[in-house]
Amino acid sequence: IPAFSQTPPNPFRVATEATFPPFEFQQGGQLTGFDIDLMRAIGKEADLNIDFRNLPFDGIIPALQARTVEAAISGMTITAERAQAISFSRPYFRAGLAIAVREDNKTIRNFEDLKGKKIAVQIGTTGALEATKIPGATVSQFDSAALALQELINGRVEAVVNDKPVTLYAIKQAGLRGVKVVGELLTEEFYGIALPKNSPYLQLINDALGRVIESGQYDVIFREWFGE
Ligand code: ARG
Repeated sequence: IPAFSQTPPNPFRVATEATFPPFEFQQGGQLTGFDIDLMRAIGKEADLNIDFRNLPFDGIIPALQARTVEAAISGMTITAERAQAISFSRPYFRAGLAIAVREDNKTIRNFEDLKGKKIAVQIGTTGALEATKIPGATVSQFDSAALALQELINGRVEAVVNDKPVTLYAIKQAGLRGVKVVGELLTEEFYGIALPKNSPYLQLINDALGRVIESGQYDVIFREWFGE
């Protein structure tokens, strides 16, 4: 039997790290967010009984490798390095990193300005990877982007490197005070749904994602979370 014709398991387990609004987070004990709505729509298209599993972000790739989950949706950037360990769907969201500083900061605008500075990041993220490349910087790693931003507000670090839409959402929608995003997008990154390497369900997920995009469902979900 060719790999692509395998019957998907029921339930179809999907990992996420649900402290990353507006992509995935908990509200009144319920999992919600852009990624969650998108994955539910994909599940409907592909006739999958989706069962979300909340995991630490740096535990998602190991879980895919151990095949204790069938897929992951977690604002995960498609990178060449990750693509050696796991497979990615077609890209579904364009994002990138931005720097957050305290409102009164006038000196930090780009990666260059972060040399020798104290920076907070979420563990296992592209933000963490970029921050650790900055010469002389001291990088503190936290379990969530929210905890990294709290460290900035508390004055223990001078900057946070995190996905721009997430930091902006924290400021504009979740009322995070005393923090601003500086400069341009520092990187261009595309999110993908992650699957175990050579998963027999990659084609199924890609086809369903394609139908969610082409049918206009994607736009409805996008507008719901990002306005207009
Ligand atoms: N896009 C970044 C990355 O892939 C951060 C993703 C963090 N996602 C999350 N649900 N905490 O590394």
